Amino acid sequence: MKVFVTREIPKIGLELLEKAGFEINLRGNELPPTKDELVEGVKDADALLCLLTDKISRDVLEAGKNLKIVSNYAVGYDNIDVDAATELGIIVTNTPGVLTDATAELAWALLFAVARRIVEADKFTRAGKFKGWHPTLLLGFELKGKTLGIIGAGRIGTAMALKSKGFKMKVLYFSRHRNERLERELGAKMVSLDELLKESDFVSLHVPLTSETFHLIGERELNLMKPTAILINTSRGAVVDEQALIKALQNRRIAGAGLDVFENEPEVPDELKKLENVVITPHIGSATHNARESMALMAAQAIVDVLNGRIPQNVVNPEVLKKLRGGQ
Ligand code: NAP
Ligand code: GLV
Ligand code: GLV
Repeated sequence: MKVFVTREIPKIGLELLEKAGFEINLRGNELPPTKDELVEGVKDADALLCLLTDKISRDVLEAGKNLKIVSNYAVGYDNIDVDAATELGIIVTNTPGVLTDATAELAWALLFAVARRIVEADKFTRAGKFKGWHPTLLLGFELKGKTLGIIGAGRIGTAMALKSKGFKMKVLYFSRHRNERLERELGAKMVSLDELLKESDFVSLHVPLTSETFHLIGERELNLMKPTAILINTSRGAVVDEQALIKALQNRRIAGAGLDVFENEPEVPDELKKLENVVITPHIGSATHNARESMALMAAQAIVDVLNGRIPQNVVNPEVLKKLRGGQ
């Protein structure tokens, strides 16, 4: 059995595939694969292990005549044409849970960095501009008593909210379903998107990117926010209309933003880079040693399971299983 792996992942995952006796075709390039490379790679592969940067379109899936599984090394799977995979009888899996805290912690790191102007202060200090303590030097926002608005109260959104406990914040959330744990443990309140945007001092995005959440936060929504509010995005860039956000930040319609994701990654607009009230990181939400190792194990295990005729954990298109059982 052949496995096409589009990028070097932590060794522990590759070793699991080796031990299972599969032939590994590891693409030796740090940059995302082109469509041609993907098509070539899946041609004789039984399994594909890919990253969120890899666009797994219908054409790529159709080229994989023996392809049984696409194992995404990420929890988000907006890079994959899941409907096409289901139609073609290909199982799609992701890596939920093991990166929840790593990502929620990064969202907090961004929130603090923007609220207390850490990056700006660091640059200021390094530039030798610190001439002595001053009452109005680099003033920021305190968290205590403020309102945190969570958009998408799933695994990461819930973890983000729960970590607010020590900061004594009020929590609002907007999601598809009620989250009883947040209500019970934090007294959090489920509200409409508009109410959340109007009332929150910190808004943190945790929805997946889908046709429903594309540009969920645009000009109208940014205009509902407080001028002192801060937006944190560790979900997907396209959940926010990036151009509208740039305008809102330039005009100080909102106070700042902490962004780990961008609409057209790896492109980061120059206008964003020029803004002092923005902290930007290169999509490193899950970038901790243990999260990345656990993701590697999980992604590899799904392939081991499928190629041995077992149903893996974390199937994102469970409909495909019925189809496979039906022998179609
Ligand atoms: P999750 O558990 O599925 O949580 C997503 C939540 O959003 C769910 O509660 C979901 O509701 C809700 N939701 C979906 N569509 C919605 C809509 N149209 N309106 C309102 N709420 C909606 O996923 P997760 O594990 O927390 O991950 C969330 C996302 O974070 C991933 O999809 C990925 O894009 C991103 N992520 C980024 C990084 C990074 O490196 N920056 C790392 C990990 C993840 P239901 O419960 O009803 O489905
Ligand atoms: C990272 O962005 C993920 O979806 O795992
Ligand atoms: C600040 O350093 C203080 O002592 O108030």
